[in-house]
Amino acid sequence: MNEQEPAVLEVENFNVELMTDNGVFKAVNNVSFRIGKGQSVTIIGESGSGKSTTAMGLLQLLPPGLAVLSGTVRLKGQDVISNPQAIAKFRGRGLALIPQDPMTALNPVATIGAQLREAIKVAGRLKSKSDQQQRAIELLTQVRIPLVEEQLKKFPHQLSGGMLQRVLIAIALASEPELLVADEPTSALDVTVQAGILDLLLELQETRGISILMITHDIGVARMVSDTIHVMKSGQFIESGDAAQIVDAPGEEYTRNLLAAVPRLGSWDETSLSTEGAS
Ligand SMILES: Nc1ncnc2c1ncn2[C@@H]1O[C@H](COP(=O)(O)OP(=O)(O)O)[C@@H](O)[C@H]1O
Ligand SMILES: [Mg+2]
Repeated sequence: MNEQEPAVLEVENFNVELMTDNGVFKAVNNVSFRIGKGQSVTIIGESGSGKSTTAMGLLQLLPPGLAVLSGTVRLKGQDVISNPQAIAKFRGRGLALIPQDPMTALNPVATIGAQLREAIKVAGRLKSKSDQQQRAIELLTQVRIPLVEEQLKKFPHQLSGGMLQRVLIAIALASEPELLVADEPTSALDVTVQAGILDLLLELQETRGISILMITHDIGVARMVSDTIHVMKSGQFIESGDAAQIVDAPGEEYTRNLLAAVPRLGSWDETSLSTEGAS
């Protein structure tokens, strides 16, 4: 990726301080990185290293009373730290988040179709109900959900975890994102489903040129999807570089341990279940 390519996201000296019962905790410490158009950047780190706090902080999704943000976060050139209102116009239009937990991200009492059509409506391009319905069908087809028209009438609890994750990707795509932030989008899924979802994200990136910020604790996922990897430990980036370089020749012991912890793509272990669910 050419460095001259205009950045979709530019982060400089970004900090997040969390107000806890035990005082102020610096969860994100002086983080800097950029994502160019069509580029895929991964933040990898062990559970509790500050990945979700970084992603949620960048997107202004942390409760203001709990988190104090500082530094610079420019989204398409606009600093959303000095001007938090600036992010509102990107939300649902051009900026999308695939959240960590598919089971809790959807509204349990609304159908898949209603939630997808709402996202399409917020994106603003399609006004008529029939166009929105048509688009909902297109999006579910694109994320390879079978028997689309039937699925649209279902409620979240009627779908498997893998299908729900696909629905969340479809909802994210409804906003026609230039930047997609995916927080452990596959860690709750089994290996085959995981590979299918990652394939899908890669294909969407190729066909639409979207930029991706991928958050994972799994270096197999990082290697598969990213151009650049930043390794996070205790709120800081301790190592950054080309994906191949970080995977093949890690400079840090911590990174080597992440590599050793994942013998193959999408290893699915009890640690990731018990700790990621809570973080
Ligand atoms: N609401 C909160 N209150 C206090 N501490 C929190 C809160 N959320 C996260 N933390 C702490 O911030 C650190 C980073 O958490 P997180 O960003 O969720 O890590 P990761 O996504 O890498 O697993 C952890 O030490 C976690 O305990
Ligand atoms: Mg997390």
